Amino acid sequence: MSLSPHPIETALKTLAAKAENSIEQTTTLEDLEQLRVNYLGKKGELSQILREMGKLTPEERPRLGAIANEVKELVQSLLESRRESLQNAQIKAKLAAETLDVTLPALSRPLGRIHPLNSTVDRMIDIFVGLGYSIATGPQVESDYYNFEALNIPADHPARDMQDTFFLSDGRLLRTHTSPVQIRYMESHEPPIRIVAPGRVYRRDTVDATHSAVFHQVELLAVDRGLTFTDLKGTIKEFLKQMFGADLPVKFRASYFPFTEPSAEVDVQWKGKWLEVMGCGMVDPNVLKAVGYDPQIYTGFAAGFGVERFAMVLHEIDDIRRCYNSDIRFLRQF
Ligand code: DAH
Repeated sequence: MSLSPHPIETALKTLAAKAENSIEQTTTLEDLEQLRVNYLGKKGELSQILREMGKLTPEERPRLGAIANEVKELVQSLLESRRESLQNAQIKAKLAAETLDVTLPALSRPLGRIHPLNSTVDRMIDIFVGLGYSIATGPQVESDYYNFEALNIPADHPARDMQDTFFLSDGRLLRTHTSPVQIRYMESHEPPIRIVAPGRVYRRDTVDATHSAVFHQVELLAVDRGLTFTDLKGTIKEFLKQMFGADLPVKFRASYFPFTEPSAEVDVQWKGKWLEVMGCGMVDPNVLKAVGYDPQIYTGFAAGFGVERFAMVLHEIDDIRRCYNSDIRFLRQF
């Protein structure tokens, strides 16, 4: 027996070392498969070495055969464990790539709110719709006739002083109240009538904490046979009860409006104070005549109230101007 190893043994050991090294360094399953073919395939390096075994003596063959087998098994198990770890890495990478980062802040679109004036009008309308009223509207640019004349406010009537407004060059004006909607609606409808008319109105007013040149009103009108002041009172009381959410003390105080007779102003006791909340009355016979109704047959009641006034009281708003200047810090509270 020679001292130096047999060349086939050397070749096998070299192959084992080379395989171990290269398998360790593969990074893809495709490369790994290529290595398998190179080492263990039919025309692979191991096959080539085994072919040489035929030349061995019967004494040499079992020992070298055993070494060849060991090398083959070693390479196979190296390939197998490398395949497993590459496959695991591949799955891990895939999972990482598909992971949803739920901690990422969502794309948020700021949510709008209903403006306190709109929500107040909505509540008012809801209450009257519940009482059988329908909604009517009219133009904000109005004629002198609808805003004043037909409402029993002739040209030189002192009531016009309190309702100075903005005039257009053609003589039309920005309506000072929602009362003209009464006239327009009655002109185009026959009794029985029950309408609620919300809308924007204008006055030549000096703006301060409680006055605005542009504000909002809701008008009420009912015309039918046999309507009396009792019907007006009952309707207004029911409205206030629903609006304030409580049966508060209500006071009808004699007043004057050209388009109602008798007329009253309504006060409600809220948090210990009497608040004036609206004007109302029985529709003046002159107004009924102006739209061609016979005041001997029909009577009616009407009321008008400010939306801002209610919104400010109910939400404890200290300055009417907050309703118009679009300050997000204010609007966010509703
Ligand atoms: N139009 C009146 C104003 O703006 C409010 C009003 C009072 C309306 C009495 C009415 C009413 O319908 O009957 O000051």
